Amino acid sequence: MKGKFITFEGSEGSGKSTHSRLLYDYLKSRGLDVIYIREPGGTKISEAIRGLLLDCKNEDMAPEAEMLLYMAARAQLIAQIIEPALKKGRIVLCDRFLDSTLAYQGYGLGINLKLIRDVGGFATRNTVPDLTIFLDLPAREGLKACSRIKTKDRIEKRPIKFHLAVRSGYLKIARQEPKRFKIIKVEKDMRLTQKKVRILAGRLIK
Ligand code: TMP
Repeated sequence: MKGKFITFEGSEGSGKSTHSRLLYDYLKSRGLDVIYIREPGGTKISEAIRGLLLDCKNEDMAPEAEMLLYMAARAQLIAQIIEPALKKGRIVLCDRFLDSTLAYQGYGLGINLKLIRDVGGFATRNTVPDLTIFLDLPAREGLKACSRIKTKDRIEKRPIKFHLAVRSGYLKIARQEPKRFKIIKVEKDMRLTQKKVRILAGRLIK
C-alpha cells in the first residue's frame, strides 16, 4: 500500500503554512487518514536542527553546512515519519521539502544543483512528492507580509537579491517538472487560493 505525498513550497510570506494547514483540516474533516508536518522539523532531532538553522546568532554558518543541516533534518523526518506513513497508505502533507533546498541553497546561495539532487536522493531515500503546490507571490510583497507578523529569522534576513533568486529558482523547477510542481498565484482573497489548493489535491486523492 502506498499513500500520497503532497508538499507545499513558497517564498517567504506566501501563506504556505496557513494554506497547507487549511487543507489538512479539510481532508481530516472528510475522514481521510492524513498527517501534517513541516520542514525543517517534524521530529525531535529535526526540530533541534531547525533551531540551529534559523537562529540569527549563527550568521557565520558556511553554505555547505547549511545545506547539509537541511538534508540531515530531512533524512530524520523521512526515516521516522514520512516513509512509515506512506507505507501505511496515509496522506502526508509536508510544509516544504527538497525543492526548498534547490531554491534556497541552490538558486539562492549558488550550491551545485546536481549535488543537491544527489545528496537529496540519499537523504530522502529517493522519495519524490506525488504533488508539489507552489504558492507564488512576488518576493518583495511576501517579505513585507512576513515582517508584519514576526521578527525575521536568519534566512528571511537575507538581502532581496537572494529572495528574488529563490523565487526565480522555483519558477525554473516548475518549468522542468510541470506534472508534479504546480504553481498557484496567491490571491488577495484567501478563500480563492484555498479553493485552488483543494482542487489540485482533490485531483490526486479523488
Ligand atoms: P519556514 O519559514 O517555511 O518554516 O521555513 C524555514 C526557513 O528555512 C525558510 O526561510 C526557508 C528555509 N529553508 C531553506 O533555506 N532550505 C530548505 O531546505 C528548507 C526546508 C527551508
